Amino acid sequence: MNDITRKPQPICRRDFLGQIATCACATALGLATVGMARLPFPAVIPGESSKVKIGHPADFPKGEGLWIAATKAFVFRDNEGFFVISGICTHLGCIVAQDPKGFHCPCHGSAFGNRGEVTKGPAPSALPWLEISLASDGQLIVDTQKVIPMGTKLKV
Ligand code: FES
Repeated sequence: MNDITRKPQPICRRDFLGQIATCACATALGLATVGMARLPFPAVIPGESSKVKIGHPADFPKGEGLWIAATKAFVFRDNEGFFVISGICTHLGCIVAQDPKGFHCPCHGSAFGNRGEVTKGPAPSALPWLEISLASDGQLIVDTQKVIPMGTKLKV
């Protein structure tokens, strides 16, 4: 008799359930292996730190603000201590420039006083003051994400 004309043998219930169980075990083992292979790699990739070391206090003379590009901010030192004013305009985010009256924005003409307060719009709010602190190695650290109240200074 020819094999092509032969009908497939019906599978018994026990064999069918055995094949399902084997497939389920193989799938579970495969997924577990993939999971274990991913363990050495971090699930969350940390972003860049918002804290930037800017140097030792002695590097900053009293008087005019010093632009620190890594922080996009101006660092000032006066008789009361250190303070940092963000150089990012609160209107649309352009970088402001320092002038004798404070700061001005070249994009749309906003002006800010020496403490970052708005003196001419369209900027909706003052330039934020950023936290500055002293690291254990004696360097100053600016946290570009932490806004502090205007007038807060670090005494060193
Ligand atoms: S971005 Fe500074 S005034 Fe518009």
